[in-house]
Amino acid sequence: MDTIIVLDFGGQYCHLIARRIRDLGVYSEILPFDTKMEALKKKEPKGIILSGGPSSVYDVNSPQLPDGFFKFVKEEKIPVLGICYGHHTIIKRLGGTIEPHEQKEYGKTELNIVSPNLLLEALDDKEIVWMSHGDQVRNLPEGFKAIAKTDTCPIAAYQDDSNSIYGVQFHPEVVHTPKGNQILENFISKIARSKKEWKLEDWIELSIEDINREIGTTNKVILGLSGGVDSSVAAVLIHKAIGDRLHCIFVNNGLLRKNEEKQVQETFKEKLQFKNFHYIDAENLFLSRLKDVSDPEEKRKIIGHSFIEVFEEKTIHLEEEFPDITHLAQGTIYPDRVETAATSKSSAKIKSHHNLTLPDDMKLKIIEPLKDLYKDEVRKIGLKLGLDRELIERHPFPGPGLAVRCLGSVNKEELDTLREADYILIEEIRKANIYEKLWQAFCVFIPVKTVGIMGDFRTYEHLCAIRVVESRDAMTANFSKLDWNLLEKIGTRIINEVKGFNRVVYDISNKPPSTIEYE
Ligand code: XMP
Repeated sequence: MDTIIVLDFGGQYCHLIARRIRDLGVYSEILPFDTKMEALKKKEPKGIILSGGPSSVYDVNSPQLPDGFFKFVKEEKIPVLGICYGHHTIIKRLGGTIEPHEQKEYGKTELNIVSPNLLLEALDDKEIVWMSHGDQVRNLPEGFKAIAKTDTCPIAAYQDDSNSIYGVQFHPEVVHTPKGNQILENFISKIARSKKEWKLEDWIELSIEDINREIGTTNKVILGLSGGVDSSVAAVLIHKAIGDRLHCIFVNNGLLRKNEEKQVQETFKEKLQFKNFHYIDAENLFLSRLKDVSDPEEKRKIIGHSFIEVFEEKTIHLEEEFPDITHLAQGTIYPDRVETAATSKSSAKIKSHHNLTLPDDMKLKIIEPLKDLYKDEVRKIGLKLGLDRELIERHPFPGPGLAVRCLGSVNKEELDTLREADYILIEEIRKANIYEKLWQAFCVFIPVKTVGIMGDFRTYEHLCAIRVVESRDAMTANFSKLDWNLLEKIGTRIINEVKGFNRVVYDISNKPPSTIEYE
């Protein structure tokens, strides 16, 4: 299959490049910038893209292309496209010069195309592009010419006279470059002439082969299943590869939504016929440890530690029973890795991730089959692997579950009240056919009592807040301007049907400054 290789120089958008190319129908793979030439040759690339990165080409330890790179691409006539740092490193290696520019360019900039060329074909003479750089190309090596400029960057794009080496100072892979996809399309189709043969089914096949190779024919794997999209898709994929040598552990921490533990068991044990699905009911343990604890951080800590304890205990039992358990599988996806900055040797640390990692002394090798995928790709794969659309399209649910939505100390009675209200909210949202357009919709138990009246009786009950937000990535979010009639119906049903709530309020805060969750 025709392949475009992306060499990773540590830029935060590197994986987006491969993803866009796959979306355009050509298989693309990311390799570290210092991949040995032999390994690169084996991939038989139709084209190579050099990603951006946080370094400057003049930094002492700046990442370098492998020796023999240009000899190889010239002999094999493999087109190369450099982006940002990639754009600089090509020029430096071939004898041009780069210099720091006093006016750093970040954000949207107007690009002027100064010479007709294949890479920027079908674009207007002026286009908006996304810049993020401090250095810029000053002098081009012989045989190169500038093909586009901006007000502050005279060589914002270049090509060589064999029409096979191109560079762009800006980022075509981000959505802020509106014609970015056209540029990548031009590179893969018009310049690299690669065939569009990539399908998600192929990824599934390749991934199953990889899992089999890694695990072997007798070893076993443990996976912590939360019932969320990522761990569910990882489980089904691994199960397809190694069958019942996969042991899934599902912990009911007493903080799940209504019927969740039943649904997860039904899906995996009954529908998908997982023989080694281990359900652990730890509700009492979690709730007893959370009793009278009202500090949000303390609650999270207790939940995190208790989970590890329960998971570890079960793993140790399983390891005693099956000594050939060698791997721990995780549903890590690409954005999780960006957050933990484990993407590549040269990526800059962005922020530390708030989810749990299991202790190192578990001595199991980690396998993360979804680690290069984005959420929407994981969803598509899940559907292809036969998971229900309802599970695949589920809203994100935080690890500490309803504990962060039941404010202050939690107890079973209040959690049950919350579960009922939340169930009604989701039922009505689904009936209104808007579930999939929302990022999250949930109820919150506010431990404040207000007076109400039911028939002839005065009531004095707790308050239910409804939080419904729209978002692309949870970094920012807007409250959803739901239809008043729908809100009225939800509020009325909650007050009438849920014992424990006599008043419902709608949360109209955006993020920032508010967060999506309450604790
Ligand atoms: P916030 O509340 O920070 O949430 O606006 C952003 C997104 O992250 C989810 N979230 C969590 N997920 N463990 C998780 O796995 C957590 O502790 C946690 N806290 C928040 C939240 O639901 C939202 O989608």
